[in-house]
Amino acid sequence: MDQPLVLGIETSCDETSAAVLRGERELLGHVILSQDIHRVFGGVVPEIAARSHLRAIDDVVRGALAEAGVRLEDIAAVAATAGPGLIGALLVGLTWAKALAFGLGRPFIPVHHMEAHVFATQLEHEAASPPFVGLLVSGGHTMLLWVPEWGHYELLGETRDDAAGEAFDKVAKILGLGYPGGPVIQRTAVAGNARAYRFPRPMLAGNQSPDRAEYYEFSFSGLKTSVLTRVRELEAQDELEQARADVAASFQAAVVDVLVRKTLRAVEEYRCPRVVLGGGVAASRALREALAAALGSDGELFAPSLRLATDNAAMVARAGRFHWQRGEVGSWATTARADLPFPGLVRRYPPDNAC
Ligand code: KG4
Ligand code: ZN
Repeated sequence: MDQPLVLGIETSCDETSAAVLRGERELLGHVILSQDIHRVFGGVVPEIAARSHLRAIDDVVRGALAEAGVRLEDIAAVAATAGPGLIGALLVGLTWAKALAFGLGRPFIPVHHMEAHVFATQLEHEAASPPFVGLLVSGGHTMLLWVPEWGHYELLGETRDDAAGEAFDKVAKILGLGYPGGPVIQRTAVAGNARAYRFPRPMLAGNQSPDRAEYYEFSFSGLKTSVLTRVRELEAQDELEQARADVAASFQAAVVDVLVRKTLRAVEEYRCPRVVLGGGVAASRALREALAAALGSDGELFAPSLRLATDNAAMVARAGRFHWQRGEVGSWATTARADLPFPGLVRRYPPDNAC
């Protein structure tokens, strides 16, 4: 019998996306519409994002169905991102998906955006399956995970302040390079010397031990401030123009260094040299190269293609399919939540005030 089709919908930030997935890994149709308008403002404007999703969603879904060569009635289940993200943006996709599922008489499956990022890489690399060490690095989150099986995520560390992608975005702004920051910093850094400036490697003291939360935690806000201070000095000396590529390369190297060394700590502790990257910063060439080199020939690094690293509906369909198979479907009362809890996530280090 043919594998059932899942329609996935993603509208948590500034990409309107729909995907048709057959079975676990066969992507039949996939449309991603990026909202360029936010570049004008140097960041995502929530109200504009929500309105743009509303204008685009019909055509984006229609496009994904046409590419897949299927009709709406062929869809067996509808999955949509329910959070975390911008609440107005989330509500557009989630409500649209729920209405469609209701009209078709099919189950509706709410999906957690970051869990979807964990699944993304497996769509292209079957071996990117548990057990693995997961590094999720996006514009809103930085999470180091131990994943013994799908649906079970042990949170080793996350960021105390800015996310890795957010740091790229803010430093790009400081350097006058535009939005989004990651790709433009990567391009600028090519011509720069990564050792020109020694920016701090936050949370990387050598005396940290695995029984303390900071062993796996991240913090990028101080690094950003350090770049800002240096850029102001360079500006005052009228030297920023010549130094821009060096600053970009040195900043990128500092972020990559921290991400790689913390990931390696998890690889060593869990004795598992399989690492799966997810989220927009997984598109970073510097990060992929440094991680691959650090893991060496005995390690396995799985990274999504650029299209599946940044926000997309294919990963939402994939995560939705997983929960649907387990009977975890939403109700018509399910709604979007900007701070939706990550399903199956357990914290290795409970907060200090936990009882
Ligand atoms: O996963 P994503 O598309 O959206 C969120 O869920 O946040 O991630 C977007 C983030 C942005 O902060 C962007 O600057 C970053 O991913 N990014 C990169 C690169 N490409 C995108 N960061 C570093 N290097 C890149 N090549
Ligand atoms: Zn994302």
